[in-house]
Amino acid sequence: MTVEASPCTSRDLYLPQAATVVSKTLLTATEMLFEMRLDSGEELGHMPGQFVEVTVPGVGEAPISISSSPDLKGVFELVVRRAGRVSGAMHGWPMGGKLGIRGPFGTHFPVDGAMQGRDVVFVAGGIGLAPLRSAIQYVLNHRADYGKVSILYGTKSPGERMFIDELAEWLEREDVKFIETVDRGDENWKGNVGVITKLIPLAQIDPARAVVIACGPPVMYKFVVVSLYAANITNEQIFVSLERRMKCGVGKCGHCQINGLYACVDGPVLNYADIAEIKEAI
Ligand SMILES: Cc1cc2nc3c(=O)[nH]c(=O)nc-3n(C[C@H](O)[C@H](O)[C@H](O)COP(=O)(O)OP(=O)(O)OC[C@H]3O[C@@H](n4cnc5c(N)ncnc54)[C@H](O)[C@@H]3O)c2cc1C
Ligand code: FES
Repeated sequence: MTVEASPCTSRDLYLPQAATVVSKTLLTATEMLFEMRLDSGEELGHMPGQFVEVTVPGVGEAPISISSSPDLKGVFELVVRRAGRVSGAMHGWPMGGKLGIRGPFGTHFPVDGAMQGRDVVFVAGGIGLAPLRSAIQYVLNHRADYGKVSILYGTKSPGERMFIDELAEWLEREDVKFIETVDRGDENWKGNVGVITKLIPLAQIDPARAVVIACGPPVMYKFVVVSLYAANITNEQIFVSLERRMKCGVGKCGHCQINGLYACVDGPVLNYADIAEIKEAI
């Protein structure tokens, strides 16, 4: 099953647009939520699962997934883990400061295609919740277009859980099954302990109706897919988001190539049937 590309609109692919940091919120010890606004006054015009290239003036550029739903107007949100030069500089960037934005780029989760009318199972590992949150918010905003919605979320420890208020809302909703786990609990943690695959049987997935949308570290996919097979889910029913080192973000430089696939334009969202046989993909 091919995932539809959502080409960047008429904007110059290589020219960053000025954007303002409207607010910054520390979500965990290493993850910061940025609320951004394009100075042109335009909407970003993304679909859930797409990414932007963020330029920090004088430092460099990094691909970052868009974490808010397209339904949020006027601003868009990014979650940035402090990992190195660009992400570290972003964490120190002042509110009101200017950053450059290219994009949105890449393919998107099929919220307007294969997910419609189906039961949707979201599987988020760690910072993988950042891009999935855009799709989760979109599905919840257009709830009648989808069947049952399950959200499975796993982090290494309770301190790494992001968007704690939203997790609590999802838990409260009657039209959402939200289940989470941590690899290692602490003295205050009363929930599930263990890896995320433990949650898959708890989701009681109906293989005749389900589409699975997964985002997390590559090692998570290996194990999640095996558990999904045990629940009679096929490769065609699974969509994943793949992260690769990127430079241009627009299919020109070849940095993100995986066996002929360009993660930046053929991905980041891919149907698992298209990559299951590619050893380097996962
Ligand atoms: C499509 C896509 C979406 C992404 N979305 C997000 C997001 O929403 N939030 C977020 O925080 N990060 C995201 N990333 C990862 C992010 O782009 C990198 O962490 C970032 O480029 C690091 O830049 P830096 O200059 O801060 O770190 P650097 O100084 O370049 O590197 C710091 C460390 O991170 C490692 N690193 C750099 N890039 C990657 C990568 N792509 N994958 C794994 N390790 C890497 C380096 O090897 C090094 O160990 C995404 C990457 C891609 C390709
Ligand atoms: S990042 Fe340049 S081709 Fe994908």
